[in-house]
Amino acid sequence: MMQTRNALILGGKTGLLGQALAHVMKMPQWQAFCPGRNELDVFDSSEIKKYIKKHNIDTIFNTIAYTAVDQAEDDPEQAHTLNRDLPALLGKICQADSISLVHYSTDFVFNGSKTTPYTTEDQATPQSVYGKTKLLGEKALLSNTWDKLIIIRTAWLFGPFKTNFVDKIISLARENKCLNIVHDQVGSPTYTIDLAKHSLKLAETDSSGVFHLANKGQASWCELASEAIKCAGLYCSPTPVTSSEYPQKAKRPPYSVLDCSKYSMITGCKPRTWTQSLRDYVYHYQETD
Ligand SMILES: NC(=O)c1ccc[n+]([C@@H]2O[C@H](COP(=O)([O-])OP(=O)(O)OC[C@H]3O[C@@H](n4cnc5c(N)ncnc54)[C@H](OP(=O)(O)O)[C@@H]3O)[C@@H](O)[C@H]2O)c1
Repeated sequence: MMQTRNALILGGKTGLLGQALAHVMKMPQWQAFCPGRNELDVFDSSEIKKYIKKHNIDTIFNTIAYTAVDQAEDDPEQAHTLNRDLPALLGKICQADSISLVHYSTDFVFNGSKTTPYTTEDQATPQSVYGKTKLLGEKALLSNTWDKLIIIRTAWLFGPFKTNFVDKIISLARENKCLNIVHDQVGSPTYTIDLAKHSLKLAETDSSGVFHLANKGQASWCELASEAIKCAGLYCSPTPVTSSEYPQKAKRPPYSVLDCSKYSMITGCKPRTWTQSLRDYVYHYQETD
C-alpha cells in the first residue's frame, strides 16, 4: 500500500511558492498542512514540535523568507532573523526528530561574474543583504551533517496565487504602449508549479545536499516581459534599458542562470523550458486578449 507523507509547508498559506507546493500536493502520496502565521509561531520551537507530533509530520518545506530584496538593505536585522536564524532553528528541530527538511535558497547567492550556468560547486559570493543572509541560512543548515536535508536554490519565480513579475508586466502592458525593462540581468525564469512538482520528486528520492532547480533556458527581465506580453496577446513593446538606468537599492547579479544537472542526475527528470511554462501559466491563470 502507498504510504502518505505528511508535509508541513511553512509559507504555504500566503507565499508564492508555498501555495504552489500546497496545490501540487493534492495527490494521494502527500498531505499538506499549511498553518498561517497566526496559527503557528515558527520561532517557537516547542510550538513547532507540538505541531509536528499532532499532525504526524515527516517532511517540512520551508518557503518562509525575507524576500523583499531592496527592502532588506534597510532591514538587515529582520532579514537575518528570517533567512538565517529560522532555517538554523528548523534544522535543529528536524535533525533531532529525524524529520526531512526541504529548504529554499536563491540564485542571488552568486555575484554574477560567470557567463555559463552556475553549478552547485561554484563559489557563492552574494552582493546583497538578501543574498548574504540566504547564504548564511544555507551554511547554518550545512554545518551539521545529516542525511535528511535538501537545499534547493531557485530563481525568478512566477506563478499563480500571489502577484509576481509576470502579473505586474501583463497588467502594465494593458495600460501602456511601451515599458522600460532591464536587459542586462540574465537569469532562469521559473514556474512555481513546475518547481513544486520537481521539489516533490527530489524529496521522494530521499537524497540530500544542495540542488539547483529552475526551468530550462535563460532570459533577461526584458525577454521575460516580452514573452509574457506576447502570450497574453497584448500590444506593448518593452524597451531594453540598463540596470544603471533603473537603479535599485540592492546589487543584483548580472548573470545567475542555474545549472540543474545535479537534480536531473538524481531524479532522471528534466525541467521544461521557461517559455513552455510561461505559456501554461498565462493561458491557465491570466485573462488573455
Ligand atoms: N520569488 C522569487 O523570485 C525567488 C527567487 C529565488 C529564490 N526564492 C526563494 O524561494 C522561497 C519562497 O519565495 P516566495 O517568493 O514564495 O516568498 P514569498 O511569496 O515572499 O512568501 C514568503 C512567505 O513567508 C511568510 N513570512 C514572512 N515573514 C514571516 C514571519 N515573520 N513569520 C511567519 N511567516 C512569515 C509570508 O507570510 P505572510 O504572507 O503572512 O507575510 C509568506 O507566506 C524563499 O526562500 C525565497 O528566498 C524566491
